[in-house]
Amino acid sequence: MEERKKFYITTPIYYPSGNMHIGHTYCTVAADTMARFKKLTGYDTYFLTGTDEHGQKIERKAAEAGVTPKQFVDEIVARTKELWKLMDIEYDDFIRTTDERHEKIVQKIFKQFYDQGDIYKSEYEGLYCTPCESFWTPSQLKDGCCPDCGRPVEPTREESYFFRMSKYQDWLIDYIETHPDFIQPPARANEMLNNFLRPGLQDLCVSRTSFKWGVPVTFDPKHVVYVWIDALSNYITALGYGTDHDELFKKYWPADVHLVGKEIVRFHTIYWPIMLHALGLPLPKQVFGHGWLLFGNDKMSKSKGNIVYPQPIVARYGCDALRYYLMREMPFGADGNYTNEAMLTRMNADLANDLGNLVSRTVAMIEKYFGGEVPEPDQITELEDALRNRFEALPALVEKNMDGLQFSLALSEIWKLVGDCNRYIDQTQPWILGRSEEGKPRLKTVMYYLAECVRAVAVLIAPFMPKTPERIFEQIGVTDAALKTWDSVQHFGALKAGTKVQKGQALFPRIDVSKELAALAEEEKPAGSEPKAEPAPKKAEPAKAPEDEEEKAGVSLIGIEDFDKVQLLTAKVVACERVPKSDKLLKETLDVGGTTRTVVSGIANYYTPEEMVGKTVILVANLKPRKMRGILSEGMLLCASDDKGNLKLLTVEEGIGSGAEIG
Ligand code: MSP
Repeated sequence: MEERKKFYITTPIYYPSGNMHIGHTYCTVAADTMARFKKLTGYDTYFLTGTDEHGQKIERKAAEAGVTPKQFVDEIVARTKELWKLMDIEYDDFIRTTDERHEKIVQKIFKQFYDQGDIYKSEYEGLYCTPCESFWTPSQLKDGCCPDCGRPVEPTREESYFFRMSKYQDWLIDYIETHPDFIQPPARANEMLNNFLRPGLQDLCVSRTSFKWGVPVTFDPKHVVYVWIDALSNYITALGYGTDHDELFKKYWPADVHLVGKEIVRFHTIYWPIMLHALGLPLPKQVFGHGWLLFGNDKMSKSKGNIVYPQPIVARYGCDALRYYLMREMPFGADGNYTNEAMLTRMNADLANDLGNLVSRTVAMIEKYFGGEVPEPDQITELEDALRNRFEALPALVEKNMDGLQFSLALSEIWKLVGDCNRYIDQTQPWILGRSEEGKPRLKTVMYYLAECVRAVAVLIAPFMPKTPERIFEQIGVTDAALKTWDSVQHFGALKAGTKVQKGQALFPRIDVSKELAALAEEEKPAGSEPKAEPAPKKAEPAKAPEDEEEKAGVSLIGIEDFDKVQLLTAKVVACERVPKSDKLLKETLDVGGTTRTVVSGIANYYTPEEMVGKTVILVANLKPRKMRGILSEGMLLCASDDKGNLKLLTVEEGIGSGAEIG
């Protein structure tokens, strides 16, 4: 039997210092999405996440809370795991640096480094704050004092072990230069080479004696292992490296990709490769440094009080909507500013309008015209060929973008099919085909093509939005597991005619943005506070499948209250002339129920001034006036134009005078 291809992906292990904010969920959602995608495409996948639990900070926080460090982290780890469940994060293993399996191997690795001369004992020199028991570097100080408590610091020495990083510097420069995929995006590789490696590596302090909450050094027990040897080793200790049960390590190492935030790229692409090389192990194939979710152009952090928590968002709009937003909004690798408004607007546009409406329209029309059974396609035209081409090209495009960790581009490719389907409805106008027997063959084709495309979309979005596909499959009547696979979307046409569709709840109810902004602002008050108990999930509204498709030929839906804002009036053109020095503009003088208005329109290529005079046209009467070529235009005339370059004014049949309301 052919062995399946393997894929091992990791997130950083998180500091359990409090509740996780949506910045933390960003990387974990990305890793989960990638792991699910690889599973979908047939890989034997392993996805690791966990917590980085040692250090002086935790020790101090636990003391403040009157509990042991282990009790302190246990509680936070339990909450972290709950959050991952809420976010549908399906990890294969959760490693804690306090796990015995981890600590034992860290001790072994440390000893090996010492025995082979990579680690030596010396003294750490730093600026020490006695009340806080913390060392600081000059650049970390605030006004020359401890950044935590503001008290003076003193130059102090502490016995420490150091790792001889400098010994491996030239090897690493060569490795990075000859493995262009190792550090992604490429700009981060240049940063590492130019800012750290080429100027010369400092040896790294790898043990401490001033606190106890860490992995003890076996051969010198007053020392505990300090930060990076402990933290980075998690990627191999979780797989059983160095034990008698190292099957997973043999199977999955080297990792395919470590996903990390940009500020810890340095540790993953300098210290970690050097540690692995010193252990005689191969390096991960890639370290991808993603950007930060910013809030008001600043990094989200508790100390700045600008934190957004995921729980209220999930409770209000569902986990899939948040996951979609995180993966769609910003290119992976770049920073992106987070605002509730941008998130809600995107949820409305992409999920409620584009995807949600496509599914509900498709199902409603199959119910209305074919008693709920997907018909056999009949007459095929160029429109169907184009849709089929988009469908069949899509999996490869999605895979290419996913392999480059370009989640946003992969989604945008999928949404092109969604957009094409919505346009296809507008082009084929099923509501007109449905009026006569002659329209039926085309109508059958249109309904089949829509249902089949909806199926493909459901399959392809599964890694991003784990819950939504089943809700779509239910509505379009897909129960057969074989129709939910990657293979099934390589070629158009796997959906069987005769499949029974069934109207369901709206996938993503439309969000009232201003109301929700106020509600979210209330949830987030006071800034920086921990999340409150989750509000009861909003009940999904029943799907509002448009009864009459004619109402819905446009892509996005507006309420009648939006339409009512536009004042449309009939107007009679009483005079018209060309605007001097302009090829395109005509100036019309209109009679609108006894008052006179001037409007400038870009229609001189289609109508002469003489042709215009006497027509009764439709005026958008409450458009803000604006100056064009020095003439104040007080409204706009409605025209229809097509993509062949035709343009016609909308006119009103005789019998209606000027100033009559339209609507
Ligand atoms: N414990 C270390 C990692 C050790 S890995 C061997 C650590 N932990 S952390 O909890 O501070 O951060 C974990 C990850 O969360 C980092 O990759 C960091 O970049 C990411 N993020 C924290 N805030 C973030 C945003 N606002 N936006 C995106 N990611 C952010 O570092």
